[in-house]
Amino acid sequence: MSKNNSNKMWGGRFKMSPAEIMEDINASIDFDKRFALQDIQGSKAHAEMLAAQGIITKADGKAIVKGLDQVLAEIEAGKFKYSRALEDIHMNIEARLKTIVGEAAGRVHTGRSRNDQVATDLRLYVRETIDGLDDALVRLQQALAKQAEANAATLMPGFTHLQPAQPVTFGHHLLAYVEMIGRDRGRFQDARKRLNESPLGSAALAGTSFPIDRKATAAALGFDRPMANSLDGVSDRDFVLETLSAATITAIHLSRFAEEIVIWMTPQFGFISLSDKFTTGSSIMPQKRNPDAAELTRAKVGRIAGAFQSLAMVMKGLPLAYSKDMQEDKEVAFDAFDSLKLAVAAMTGMVEDLKANPEAMAAAAGQGFSTATDLADWLVRELKMPFRDAHHVTGSIVAEAEAQGVELADLPLEAMKAHEKRITKAVFDVLSVENSVKSRTSYGGTAPQNVMKSARSWLKRLEKDLSAG
Ligand code: ARG
Repeated sequence: MSKNNSNKMWGGRFKMSPAEIMEDINASIDFDKRFALQDIQGSKAHAEMLAAQGIITKADGKAIVKGLDQVLAEIEAGKFKYSRALEDIHMNIEARLKTIVGEAAGRVHTGRSRNDQVATDLRLYVRETIDGLDDALVRLQQALAKQAEANAATLMPGFTHLQPAQPVTFGHHLLAYVEMIGRDRGRFQDARKRLNESPLGSAALAGTSFPIDRKATAAALGFDRPMANSLDGVSDRDFVLETLSAATITAIHLSRFAEEIVIWMTPQFGFISLSDKFTTGSSIMPQKRNPDAAELTRAKVGRIAGAFQSLAMVMKGLPLAYSKDMQEDKEVAFDAFDSLKLAVAAMTGMVEDLKANPEAMAAAAGQGFSTATDLADWLVRELKMPFRDAHHVTGSIVAEAEAQGVELADLPLEAMKAHEKRITKAVFDVLSVENSVKSRTSYGGTAPQNVMKSARSWLKRLEKDLSAG
């Protein structure tokens, strides 16, 4: 090797060292050291395959694998010295391997390139992230379903347009989020299925002339199969985009729920309280209890959706195959995944911590003529009125109640009869909030018996999901 200052991994044709700014813009070690473990897994699988195929000697294969295990131990012990001059995790590890095993280290890169190496590492990392997230989402669903079970009959106002619409139960409201998160988990699983193919052995872009066994490395790394096209193998980042898009939708759900927690916590609503564990005080106003965890959970969607947008713009218009632009996939994706993990954990903690205030909720549930639909339905059922006419009559009764400043259940029968003379006192049965929710027994409806059944079936299912995962 010639004596010069160029990069020792690829500097054969270079004489000078890179400009300082070149190192600053080019080095990825500060963030890709995060998938050191995956890089070592990939290199071990590759080296074992090379030896099995007779591309390198069995002795070299063994030495490489042993050396890589030592590198891993050093990394895990926090003893590894990362170098920015070595650019990225791939070359940092290979350089250290060389000081451990000598010449054999130079053979591990046979029939491989950093292009398929990084694509493999990132797929392994994202796959693990998805698996970890699924676990965390199950725990959130469990927390929600448990609260739903405990609050299956807790009355609360249901809203549309954030105006009181019809009474519902708190348990029913919480189970809506269990369903949403169930779909989120499904989206992550869909992404996982498609990402679980191995790019390793695509080499730089065209494949290799060495008799490599891509099926063997794919199997060793838990992939379902090797990717079928080497150009696609090194240039695809769909799997990151898909996972970020699933993460964005999940974060949107969390932000909606966080917003509700913020609203419910206000003294004006007073529907729930959070303990000292998930609230903070004000440095000037001694009376305050602020829902910071909910607010931050609400906000995380910004950077998660931003990460999707950021990577979409990086990938847009990139010609095949690999371009260094793609190194920009990592920081935003890592930040998004970290943010989502944090938001899910915070939300799980808040759901476990929150206490419903059933009196305030029930009182609010009866406000705003929330049983008007029950009155209209009664007119249809008992007097055989067409729904449109019943709607009209009910509207005029609501106007009357509003004028008298009372809720529907407190309006005298005579006042109702003035609008429809066939109304009897039996109507009062359907005007109570309690009877209103009890009557909503249609499939998916808010009746406490439905909620209880659904909460329990979710809890069973989630228990199984956890033991399967
Ligand atoms: N650090 C690079 C990345 O993250 C690894 C691949 C480098 N490939 C190359 N041809 N320079 O994308």
